[in-house]
Amino acid sequence: MANNSSADKQRAQELVCVTGAGGFIGSWVVKELLHRGYRVRGTARDPADRKNVHLHTLEGADERLSLCRADVLDYDSLRAAFDGCHGVFHVASPVSNDVELIPVAVEGTRNVVNAAADMGVRRLVFTSSYGAVHMNPNRSPDTILDETCWSDYEFCKQTGNYYCCAKMMAEMAATEEASRRQLQLAVVVPPMTIGPMLQRSLNASNYHVARYLMGTKKAYPNAVAIYTDVRDVVHAHLLVYEHHHAHSRYLCFGMALHRSCLLQLIRGLFPHYPITSKCEEDDKLMASPYKFSNQRLEDLGLEFTDMRRTLYETVICLQQKGHVRIIVPYQRSSL
Ligand SMILES: NC(=O)c1ccc[n+]([C@@H]2O[C@H](COP(=O)([O-])OP(=O)(O)OC[C@H]3O[C@@H](n4cnc5c(N)ncnc54)[C@H](OP(=O)(O)O)[C@@H]3O)[C@@H](O)[C@H]2O)c1
Repeated sequence: MANNSSADKQRAQELVCVTGAGGFIGSWVVKELLHRGYRVRGTARDPADRKNVHLHTLEGADERLSLCRADVLDYDSLRAAFDGCHGVFHVASPVSNDVELIPVAVEGTRNVVNAAADMGVRRLVFTSSYGAVHMNPNRSPDTILDETCWSDYEFCKQTGNYYCCAKMMAEMAATEEASRRQLQLAVVVPPMTIGPMLQRSLNASNYHVARYLMGTKKAYPNAVAIYTDVRDVVHAHLLVYEHHHAHSRYLCFGMALHRSCLLQLIRGLFPHYPITSKCEEDDKLMASPYKFSNQRLEDLGLEFTDMRRTLYETVICLQQKGHVRIIVPYQRSSL
């Protein structure tokens, strides 16, 4: 096994590409790759846009980060982005419930896999979503969600969950194309991902938390979601990339929480925000949390961050970036 310095040297020679480098998860993937000594090429549809400026301030960016323009629907731009790359992290996707964007996610992923194979890329990591896993009304409440579970496409469509349709079809396209082109593929399946942001703008999954602090959400749904710290999601991407035998899906699920429990955790840390305590469905049984297994990822060595710490650091970051009012936390020292 390579010692640290020879592993570092090997990484220093290895060029990897991250699609959607300026987004919430993409930025953290870039940061971690730079931290580990890789040379990184990040793609963005407009690298010069101010929204990507934070990437240039990351440690190691001056020497080892370049940005290039690529759209997942522009095949030639992807081929140019992957030229000379050993690995690709395909993080980019529309994060939207717009039905018209399903083909962008699916065809875009097909393009990424084929362009990577054309350019001799060795390993591809695809960022899927638990939207591709858990949306199945016929699943028994006792089922333990694992890598064998898939959402029900028709159910997602009928209920207007087009983002889940897109991620499901995109993951299937990635698997199919990678197998056809004999490209090594590992898939990370994150749930609702929260945590400090490197980018300035507020992304959708952190807005999920911010809207309760803003007081704009007057009642919470009777719903359960799974949450993970963005740094755990990124660690998972690196683990499946660097373990050369890692292949197919890896669930990266931190904690299942009913919305009332999520809000209780935030309230415990920041009691002065006007967080609603009203449920939209007070008269119904509380939705019960899912059971799940992260065994495959844990076998590679992933340990999950404590959710209270994640929430604490998320809120502090939201304050620092001006997305929510600054209110002093309650129990900072007990974290
Ligand atoms: N955050 C979560 O809770 C969560 C959970 C599960 C899975 N995921 C997955 O994680 C990935 C990143 O999500 P995120 O939360 O970091 O979202 P985000 O901050 O909105 O980032 C999305 C990225 O996708 C890029 N993109 C969108 N359309 C594109 C196109 N046509 N061509 C090229 N790039 C395009 C955007 O790049 P531009 O700068 O060019 O706009 C942006 O960098 C997505 O695949 C998402 O499905 C996220």
